[in-house]
Amino acid sequence: MASPNSRRRFLKGSFGTAVAAGLAESGQSAAGDDPASQNSATAAPQVQWRNRNEAMRYRMLGRTGMMVSEIVMGGNEITPDNYQHVFEAMDMGLNYLDTSPAYGKGASELGFAKVIKQRPRDHFFLTSKVSVWDLNRNERFEKIYNGLSGDEQSRLRGAANDLITQRGAAEPDYLGDYFGSQTRELNAAALSDVMQTTYGDRIDRDKNYRQIIIDSVEGSLQRLGTDHLDVLMCPHGASSPVELTRYPEIFDAFNELKVDGKVRFLGVSSHNDPAGVLDAATKSGIYSVAMVAYNVVNESFMNQAIDAAHDAGVGVIAMKVARPVYRSPQSANGNREGRKRLNEAVDGDWSIPQKAYLWALRNPKLSAVISNMVNAEQVAENIILPLHRG
Ligand SMILES: NC(=O)c1ccc[n+]([C@@H]2O[C@H](COP(=O)([O-])OP(=O)(O)OC[C@H]3O[C@@H](n4cnc5c(N)ncnc54)[C@H](OP(=O)(O)O)[C@@H]3O)[C@@H](O)[C@H]2O)c1
Repeated sequence: MASPNSRRRFLKGSFGTAVAAGLAESGQSAAGDDPASQNSATAAPQVQWRNRNEAMRYRMLGRTGMMVSEIVMGGNEITPDNYQHVFEAMDMGLNYLDTSPAYGKGASELGFAKVIKQRPRDHFFLTSKVSVWDLNRNERFEKIYNGLSGDEQSRLRGAANDLITQRGAAEPDYLGDYFGSQTRELNAAALSDVMQTTYGDRIDRDKNYRQIIIDSVEGSLQRLGTDHLDVLMCPHGASSPVELTRYPEIFDAFNELKVDGKVRFLGVSSHNDPAGVLDAATKSGIYSVAMVAYNVVNESFMNQAIDAAHDAGVGVIAMKVARPVYRSPQSANGNREGRKRLNEAVDGDWSIPQKAYLWALRNPKLSAVISNMVNAEQVAENIILPLHRG
């Protein structure tokens, strides 16, 4: 049973949702005293500096006003036993830490907790994500799907495939092949998207789309040992624009958490159909930050959406910048054509990952690039790049 206080917050959030939904339809943005509106394009950003250092360059993260280091810290490999190199990055001016409950099943957040304990909270910006949101949505629809007739399953699967084709989301250079389960996630999201229309009312929306966010953030804050996130990314790894446009419960949960001072800005991350997701985030008027796949292989699919996001005040962080052109020696060779293009575009005696980050930093519409720096050597090699980008 929700407390009267949380009920009041929920109603306030629902109002925010109605505003957001209306604005999304009209293509406008909100301003006013609703918490969500403070993320809007019309509110003047309050510039906020943290851990400023002349060894680093900084850019504004869209309408958040946060001046973020041009290279930010990826948290995939951070654990309670592997976090010391984060201090070295911070000593050279890095001021943004990115994590999620999914990285190492919580180990990344626990690793960053050791950093957070030793540095003042106003020394850095912190992002975590709601990793369970889209997985849970897909699981709920898959359960319903499994109980349907074969004919209905074929119809839905056909419609989902059509949706992927219409959006061009499976084009090899756009899809990127960043990790093993990527296509499975794309297919599952498309199936959920088409099922939403006919079967959406079979799902307990408040529990599965709102409460799940609140519970995830509470868990993240506890593991991180802090009382707030600067950016909450939800969904973590959106695979379709529908995930941002048909679930106002995301805005309700965000509002509720914001009123409680537990989150400041709403963001989203995406590697599947990242331009479609970024466009949806921009049009929402509520999302202030997006972390999207952007690299020398997919740039022609991404540039327009990045320009539009930047111009609307959405701060864009590029991820998967090195991934498609770099593989560790033990694994595949990476995208040879992409490597060739990168070598032509960036001169100098740099490694392939360094060239990839330098290439991305030339795009003035991006706020930062995220680098999955796994040790002190990679920190030393990558943190210096902003001063060399030209
Ligand atoms: N959906 C999402 O939101 C999502 C998904 C994945 C990741 N992320 C975030 O994004 C961060 C970055 O991940 P990414 O996938 O975009 O990776 P990336 O920065 O493109 O890096 C890919 C790999 O390049 C290698 N590398 C980087 N710098 C290097 C250097 N100086 N020398 C040699 N090798 C170097 C490392 O490979 P080795 O490990 O082989 O050394 C690194 O893992 C993650 O840590 C995480 O925080 C978000």
